[in-house]
Amino acid sequence: MAMIGGGPGAFIGPVHRIAAELDREIELVAGVFSSDPARSRAGGEAYGLDPARAYGSLAEMLAAETARPDGAQFVAVVTPNHDHLPSARAALAAGLPVISDKPMTATLDEARELAAVVEASALPFALTYTYSGYPLVREARARIAAGALGKVRKVVVEYPQGWLAGPAEGKQAEWRVDPARAGAGGCIGDIGVHAFQLAEFVTGLHVTELLADLGAVVPGRQLDDDCSVLLRFNNGARGVMLASQIEVGELNGLRIRVYGETGGLAWKQEEPNTLTLHHLDGRSEVIRAGTGLLGPDAARRTRTPGGHPEGYLEAFANLYRDFAELVRGGSAPLLPGAAQGLRSMAFIDTAVRASAARAGWTPLSI
Ligand SMILES: NC(=O)c1ccc[n+]([C@@H]2O[C@H](COP(=O)([O-])OP(=O)(O)OC[C@H]3O[C@@H](n4cnc5c(N)ncnc54)[C@H](O)[C@@H]3O)[C@@H](O)[C@H]2O)c1
Repeated sequence: MAMIGGGPGAFIGPVHRIAAELDREIELVAGVFSSDPARSRAGGEAYGLDPARAYGSLAEMLAAETARPDGAQFVAVVTPNHDHLPSARAALAAGLPVISDKPMTATLDEARELAAVVEASALPFALTYTYSGYPLVREARARIAAGALGKVRKVVVEYPQGWLAGPAEGKQAEWRVDPARAGAGGCIGDIGVHAFQLAEFVTGLHVTELLADLGAVVPGRQLDDDCSVLLRFNNGARGVMLASQIEVGELNGLRIRVYGETGGLAWKQEEPNTLTLHHLDGRSEVIRAGTGLLGPDAARRTRTPGGHPEGYLEAFANLYRDFAELVRGGSAPLLPGAAQGLRSMAFIDTAVRASAARAGWTPLSI
């Protein structure tokens, strides 16, 4: 694997490296870890790479790696959003599959362009919508698909954070509040999009229209930091998506509840090894990771016996394991790809436009 982004002090690059290497199917061998060549070299050193393979630019890396017999076989894109399209496009043009962090791009137009490039390349392309890698999220999806709740009627998904309640200081915060680098959405593009993707992933439904109220609560901020969105799904179900980065005290409280005709279920990221199912007759069931209660897909994505907690890194590693399968020529039908990326970008774009125009119910247009 070669990486673009993830240099000194970065958040998600090191997570990708750990996750990719967890099952020892993948090894980080090269990268452009910063747009500054000296910092890229420092990144390579921190990852313990051959110094010759910490490159000064993407063009240099792609030329050198594709010329080597032992060159990187795919590229992980872990830069801020505005760089996702140019990096992914260049890697695909060089014949290398791409696994990119979300959101797919900075804008919906860019996502349309990238989706076309992916299709024309016929190369594997995946997006690390982390939460779809959790075993109990897979279990929730499988149970809903098998009819455990009957017809889905209501979806409530929330992603509260509090870390941007004050001025956006520091490396991670600074680009996230800048439209030139984050894109059209602030909080909606950073975490609302995870909640949207989770809702569609778990239910197997598609959002068809939404009613959005997005605001920039912190004075002077150009992008939204607090979002409330009502959803309507293609089977008629109603939904609510709440995402905020100004809810003081909240860390990563992603949580989903789905209610159907005959049951309900609940999962939350801060206690990811438990899934709760509710039945119409008043009984509730607690399904825990690492037990015999999981179906085959979730069981395959669990590495330790019940009670030994697994979490974020392992969920990420599950996505990388699926991606390794794709690169080998196999299939990974639940790994989010360009189609999900495009839907998520349409969600951001529609919510931002509809909220600004106080447009009321607005179709989700891809
Ligand atoms: N899946 C998740 O749960 C998750 C979590 C956090 C971030 N993300 C996504 O990951 C991406 C990065 O976020 P982050 O929090 O790690 O940001 P960050 O600011 O911590 O790191 C970005 C890194 O990219 C490098 N970089 C920037 N431009 C570059 C270029 N042109 N060439 C090479 N390197 C370059 C920076 O030097 C830095 O090392 C964003 O798109 C974000 O939305 C996803």
